[in-house]
Amino acid sequence: MAKVAILGLGTVGSGVAEVLTKNADSIARKAGEPVEIKYILGRHDYPDSPFRDLVVQDFSVIENDPEISVVAECIGGTGAARDDTLRALKAGKSVVTSNKEVLAECGDEFFAIAQEKNLNYLYEASVGGGIPIIRPLGSCLAANEISEIYGILNGTTNYILTKMIKEGLSFDTALKQAQEKGYAEADPTADVEGFDACRKICILASLSFGRHVYPAQVPTQGITGVTAQDVALAEAAGMKIKLLGRAILQEDGKVVAYVAPHLIPADQQMAGVEDVFNGIVVRGDAIGDVMFYGRGAGKLPTASAVAADIIDAVKHHDRRQNLDWAPGGDDVVGSFEDLPLRWYLRTPEQDAKIAAVFGGGKTVTAGEEKAVFTGLLTKRELDQQLTDFRVLTCLPVLA
Ligand code: HSE
Repeated sequence: MAKVAILGLGTVGSGVAEVLTKNADSIARKAGEPVEIKYILGRHDYPDSPFRDLVVQDFSVIENDPEISVVAECIGGTGAARDDTLRALKAGKSVVTSNKEVLAECGDEFFAIAQEKNLNYLYEASVGGGIPIIRPLGSCLAANEISEIYGILNGTTNYILTKMIKEGLSFDTALKQAQEKGYAEADPTADVEGFDACRKICILASLSFGRHVYPAQVPTQGITGVTAQDVALAEAAGMKIKLLGRAILQEDGKVVAYVAPHLIPADQQMAGVEDVFNGIVVRGDAIGDVMFYGRGAGKLPTASAVAADIIDAVKHHDRRQNLDWAPGGDDVVGSFEDLPLRWYLRTPEQDAKIAAVFGGGKTVTAGEEKAVFTGLLTKRELDQQLTDFRVLTCLPVLA
């Protein structure tokens, strides 16, 4: 019998408890032994929860119980989540998590202790919710040299953009609908400013390329500046606007990672990823492009991935899964400013001015609005061309 503890009884924590309880028989078969929840760390008593008898409010009860072999951290954030993860690992317990924020900031620190103690630190639920992406990257695609990984990594912003595209809603109205449906938080900053997607591309890049890429190294632009005019101009050009996280391996071995709304040709599969769904493309030298698609958030999809990590940690309690990466540094990350991209520029300038600055650029119009699509230019080169040229929106094009 394996005994585990869940940290947090919020959406994900209660989902994990539900899945472990509901599917106890099949989980026991897959883990090789029954998996029992001994404790749930909570902030109060939860009198209405079916799991109330398991709740403890003091982490040291879990830390000091030698029966606990696996801890599922479902707290979120980087404060208590980091402290409790470090304490659990140091106490000889494997840790699994859905917490992309703490992993993107502190993953290398956790892996170092897990290696020293021969424990697992697993995180399948941290990117793409229930979509299997971490194991495929770390195992099934391990024979490939990965050159690029990119995707729609945030369900809330994809829902908002889909509403703007399909129903012509403004950003503010679409955000309000996302909040009413329970997709967006009351404070939607992490989603709409791109911070959540940034953390997720950090995790994917770190795993794919082997060294930690930290959020502070990833230029991040969210969707708050995307307007109905941009959506209409993209449509006029046969494209859709999607928030992408992207990590590209450069010839010098450095990784350029960034987050920004992109214009994507409507016939590309990624452009068809709608509503709260996520889509992730991995480009490998042997496999070519592989795409992963599914529900990237939600209580039970996320809980299913956390519970699978618990099963894995129980089953392989004396053997490490190799999903680690090494610490990062300035030598890991290249400059976004030097990455050649095509650009979409919404501009109030006259045709003659556009032709003078971007001679060969393609222009499109939608009503009074006008945009130019440039050839390949680095951001540095683009900024030099824009010194005397007014731009209302500037976004990369995925092409
Ligand atoms: N807020 C996130 C999203 C939740 O909308 O994708 C899943 O990480």
